[in-house]
Amino acid sequence: MNRMEMHFDARIENEAFARTVAASFIAPLNPTMDELIEVKTIISEAVANAIIHGYNGQSEGQVYLRLETLDHELHIEVEDYGVGIQDINQACQPLYTTRQDLERSGMGMTIMDSLSDQMQIESIPEQGTKLVISKRFKHGSDSQA
Ligand SMILES: Nc1ncnc2c1ncn2[C@@H]1O[C@H](COP(=O)(O)OP(=O)(O)OP(=O)(O)O)[C@@H](O)[C@H]1O
Ligand SMILES: [Mg+2]
Repeated sequence: MNRMEMHFDARIENEAFARTVAASFIAPLNPTMDELIEVKTIISEAVANAIIHGYNGQSEGQVYLRLETLDHELHIEVEDYGVGIQDINQACQPLYTTRQDLERSGMGMTIMDSLSDQMQIESIPEQGTKLVISKRFKHGSDSQA
């Protein structure tokens, strides 16, 4: 088992930072290129949502990223203490977005779900949102187990 946790300001440049950290963290599991891209995509979508929607431009907000690897499985948590989601089912519909003005496509939740083995969303309006995702690696070996 290996675990990490970090938090960072809700600034959009930290989306790339978070996805790079995740890619480094899972390297010992020897993911395939596809798996690596999938994990980076999940982290990018989740962190972008926390920054853009959760904190809505309030860059002093903190985004929490927690990763845990166990054998061939990765556990991801991305949490914000922002505005929260009023209707989680609606938020997960393909093409649903509350930020058409920013030309968001409303596909982030759908993409994350399709790249994950399991995805749970916990959210309370005015309190924040937590995404809990697990993903199994089909190839590779955990040299640190
Ligand atoms: N962390 C969050 N806090 C508050 N609202 C959120 C959060 N994440 C998602 N949402 C809401 O769910 C909607 C759908 O999210 P989703 O990621 O699918 O699409 P999007 O972010 O609008 O567009 P895209 O991800 O394609 O750029 C968002 O428009 C927003 O209203
Ligand atoms: Mg999104």
